[in-house]
Amino acid sequence: MDSLDRKNLPAHLAVIMDGNGRWAKQRMLRRIVGHQKGVETVRVIVEECSRLGIGYLTLFAFSAENWLRPKTEVKALMALLKQYIRGETARMMQNDIRFNVIGNRCDLPEDVNREIESAIQKTAGNRGMLLTLALSYGSRQEIVAAAKRLAKDAAAGRLDPEAIDEASFTGSLFTAGIPDPDLLIRTSGEMRISNFLLWQLAYAELYFTEVNWPDFDRNELARAFRDFQSRERRFGMTSEQLCQGEPEA
Ligand code: FPP
Repeated sequence: MDSLDRKNLPAHLAVIMDGNGRWAKQRMLRRIVGHQKGVETVRVIVEECSRLGIGYLTLFAFSAENWLRPKTEVKALMALLKQYIRGETARMMQNDIRFNVIGNRCDLPEDVNREIESAIQKTAGNRGMLLTLALSYGSRQEIVAAAKRLAKDAAAGRLDPEAIDEASFTGSLFTAGIPDPDLLIRTSGEMRISNFLLWQLAYAELYFTEVNWPDFDRNELARAFRDFQSRERRFGMTSEQLCQGEPEA
């Protein structure tokens, strides 16, 4: 980690934490054991990102489609989430971390929502890293909901349709106020976005690793950051323009 250029780290890191089930299966363990180990990785990575001064960390913890998993696994994941949020709030306070959730919170069990609300309130005054968990989250659903909100405002005469632009659309998403991710990491060798932050990832660098989430650690994070630092982010411009500092007319 110390060989990294601390001035060129992603301001916003997004992670698809994949491979808990396969990690467990390889060890002849139950899937839930993989998720439990995955929570330990969450603790390590949250702490490390906060230590490195990452501004925003967004973790895909439960997708809108994950409700289709066996009932026992869903129940166990909800219990783990509740336990994690309750158990980590004190550490979030110590590390000046602000807690946030994106997704359809109304789908979540009431007791999980209570823990979420309590953690959001307790950490609201913190000024360090913003930790966002995506829960019951689906990006297409988020985009449709944003379009619906803008359409309603327009129909009610509160919004001129001509005034709808990228900024107002961005501001209607769950992630309003959060800059777009600079880097997306997906573990376990899958190379998909899986309905995660489709709008927000427009210019993100993508990093895929074979490592399953329970085995992802500080060294793997450093490897991903080193790879990120080797990329040239052109945002549609040419290398020459980037070197000159500004686009040609
Ligand atoms: C993917 O592994 C992981 C998930 C669906 C959930 C991620 C959840 C955790 C890391 C634990 C709970 C999180 C928090 C923040 C407390 P998978 O089950 O899809 O693995 P597989 O593809 O190998 O089956």
